[in-house]
This record gives sequence, structure tokens and C-alpha cells, in this order.
Amino acid sequence: MDIEVIDKAFRDYVSKFDKRNKKIRLKFDHTFEVVKVMEKICYKMNLSEEDILLAKAIAYFHDIGRFEQAIKTGTFKDDVMDHADNGVALLFEDGLIDKFKVDKKYHDLIRVSVKNHNKLEVEKNLSEREKLFVNLIRDADKIDIYRVICKYYIIGKRYKFETEPNLINVENFFNHKLINNNDKKTMSDNIISSMALIYDLNYKESFEVLKETGYYRDYLNKLKASNEKEDLLDKMKKEVIDYLKERNAW
Ligand SMILES: [Fe+2]
Repeated sequence: MDIEVIDKAFRDYVSKFDKRNKKIRLKFDHTFEVVKVMEKICYKMNLSEEDILLAKAIAYFHDIGRFEQAIKTGTFKDDVMDHADNGVALLFEDGLIDKFKVDKKYHDLIRVSVKNHNKLEVEKNLSEREKLFVNLIRDADKIDIYRVICKYYIIGKRYKFETEPNLINVENFFNHKLINNNDKKTMSDNIISSMALIYDLNYKESFEVLKETGYYRDYLNKLKASNEKEDLLDKMKKEVIDYLKERNAW
């Protein structure tokens, strides 16, 4: 496995899409940033060179289904087209994986990791090795999401905590659970969902990298509420800050 070959094959694949399209640009940049975050987590965990390479390859592959999703559906909503399942189909049914010259012995781990990277819960009965790579890509992806939101979404006035959130989401949030996509109805639900992603980080090394990037701190600082919703947002910010403090990540 050669990371330069993978990098080039990834760029070749995305070159079919128009990078002036904001959604394409966003996922193109996000992929490289997730590769960097992944590398940092892996080095901190003292993984072998082979495992670091595989983890970085998985980072290149994780959102490969996003580009078609953006063009075909015009949205990143996975209830219309699940981009992880689409990525697996592209790689292993359409044979895109061949362009990346990855040894067949890694295919199953790549398939399982891409498939599980965006799910509310990971599949049951994964082996320890599968769990490692699934958890790594879930962590690296979530860390960079805060950079993406600050860069692409918060600048718009629509990104504000002002609508009435779905109560089930508030409840899940304070129980430190991820938010189900089907329960997201308003912008406030989206915000709660994003804030809650840190509850799903798996490794102490991921928390270290989250802290080092400063992305989450930036995100919370930029998050604004309407007057009526300020108290709730402050309570939620305190909840996640306390959660991170307990993990030495604030
Ligand atoms: Fe993704």
C-alpha cells in the first residue's frame, strides 16, 4: 500500500467533479484534513507503521461516496442516499478500489470501516481489529467536522440556536448520547446533534487531538442563541465543557 498512489487516485476520482461546487470543495478538503487528524491520533496511540498506513487509507476512502451524493441528491442527508453505503458500493461493487492499488488483504477492514463510519451505532460482532479501525475513522471524522462547520456553516446567519429543539434530542444530549438523524427537524436539532458528537469519541488520544486542534472550542465560541434560547444553550455548553474537562480535553 502506497499513500502517494492512494492520494493520486483520490484526486483523480474527485477531478470528475466541479470543485467550484461548495459541497464538492468541502468534502475534498475535509478528506485531507481527516487524513491529518487520523495520522495524529495513530502516532499518539503508537500504532505500527502498517496500521497507520491502513488508517490513513481508510480516511481517504471514508467519504468517497459524498461526491456522487452531493451531485445526485444536492444534499448531504443520508436518509436520501447513505454516503457510507454508497462509498462501499463504489469501491467494491463498481471496482473503484482497484485504482488505489490496495492489497486485497485489507479490503474487508476498509469495507467495514467505511460502512460504519457514519452510523448512529456500529455493527455488532465486530472483531477487535475491525473495532479499532471503525472507531479510529469515527473519531477522526468527528474532530474535523467542527472545523468544517466553523468554516462553511456558521458564517451564514441561519446557523443559530433559536428554533424549538425536539425534546428527545435535549434528553439524549444530557444523557451523553448521539442524536438520531430522524429526530432532527430544525436548526437547533442540528446544533444539538453536532455538539453531541464528542460523546462518541472513543480514545483518549482522540480527545487530545480534539483539544490540540482547538476546533471544538472555536465551534462553541462561535455558537450563538436567540435571547429566549440562551439559557438552554449555556447549559448545554457547560455540559460538554465539563465532559471534556473530565477527559483533560478542555
Ligand atoms: Fe462521512
